[in-house]
Amino acid sequence: MSLFLSIEGGDGAGKSTQAELLMTRLKAAGVDALLVHEPGGTDLGEQVRRLVKGDVARSPMSELFLFEAARAQLVRDVIRPALDAGRVVITDRYADSSLAYQGYGRGLNLADVRALNHAATGGLMPDATVLLDIPPDVALARVDGSDGSGGRSDDPGQERFEQEPLEFHRRVAEGFQALASEEPGRWFVVDASAGPEGVAGKVWSIVSNLLTLHGISGND
Ligand code: TYD
Repeated sequence: MSLFLSIEGGDGAGKSTQAELLMTRLKAAGVDALLVHEPGGTDLGEQVRRLVKGDVARSPMSELFLFEAARAQLVRDVIRPALDAGRVVITDRYADSSLAYQGYGRGLNLADVRALNHAATGGLMPDATVLLDIPPDVALARVDGSDGSGGRSDDPGQERFEQEPLEFHRRVAEGFQALASEEPGRWFVVDASAGPEGVAGKVWSIVSNLLTLHGISGND
């Protein structure tokens, strides 16, 4: 049996770290899992990633289409085949990021974003979504290193979204919270302000329950 899980959150929430820690635990438990991130995971997706993180001028709607193009390719070429093969798929961001960033953040009509999400994914939605919830000012301080962490130097093109005003990031965070409360059966909200190991423990307790619910055990 397959399981499709997305991890969502604002910039600096620690999604990528948590996705890696989760993969380590899944591997140790003998579960065959695949990790992907959006935008990315295909040739087209990686090119879109560079484009959207750079300074190329675009309208909110063009930006949405770029993310949807990357998503459509990733679903068709990678996510669908893995789920069809019965694997566990973890995605670092998915359709909800477009609702939060391009809908709530940029102000696009939510129904339009939902329609394009549906077209790009063929209606494939995650079985469960973990929201790493953290106040945007705390998260952004992590990213730029003003919290003493040294920030992130590995991804210089990162700044496009991180340079948006705090107000933008507040709208994104409120968007994620609104999405989570609309669909409490799918979303699991985790306080991501704690250290990475503490957050990883909470994520693992959610995911191990989901594995049991989906009848997945190690070495399946
Ligand atoms: P990502 O590299 O995952 O950033 P981070 O590691 O900080 O989470 O994603 C790149 C940026 O793209 C991120 O700032 C969020 C944004 N984004 C959207 O605006 N809409 C989307 O649909 C997706 C998938 C990402």
